Amino acid sequence: MEMTFSIVKPDGVKKNLIGEVIGRFEGQGLKISALKMLHLTKKEAEGFYAVHKARPFFESLTTFMSEGPIVAMVISGNKAIEKVRQLMGATNFKDAAPGTIRADFASDIEHNIVHGSDSTESASFEIPYFFSAMELF
Ligand code: RTP
Ligand code: MG
Repeated sequence: MEMTFSIVKPDGVKKNLIGEVIGRFEGQGLKISALKMLHLTKKEAEGFYAVHKARPFFESLTTFMSEGPIVAMVISGNKAIEKVRQLMGATNFKDAAPGTIRADFASDIEHNIVHGSDSTESASFEIPYFFSAMELF
């Protein structure tokens, strides 16, 4: 059993894809262990994506991530990190495998609908950034 962290990004919420994304995770046998809707401030988005602070896209990414509400969730299951990343598809939707969330719904490299932890280390930072121990099931 493994836990990972995922977000339906502001573009996914705007496009009515909350249920679609959660349905794809549940459809693979993954469990929702925590779930909430919230609107990040710019500072909160910067803290979440601090690993990308030096990247040219950091300013644009953190503006995008704070421009509307998101749905944050913790997903549990066998190989949950890898399974969620597979369901998401590549960062750039043009490279994403057919049938992945990003291939089906992303509109450009930044507006790519969904986030997922890329390692156990990032999941260990990202889960408590959004959820307390009492909010995890
Ligand atoms: P995420 O962290 O959101 O799950 O995405 P990822 O691992 O597939 O990609 P990452 O390299 O961590 O990038 C984080 C997010 O930044 C935006 N991005 N824009 N303009 C660009 O070249 C560019 N590159 C990345 C995307 O929203 C990406 O998901
Ligand atoms: Mg990433």
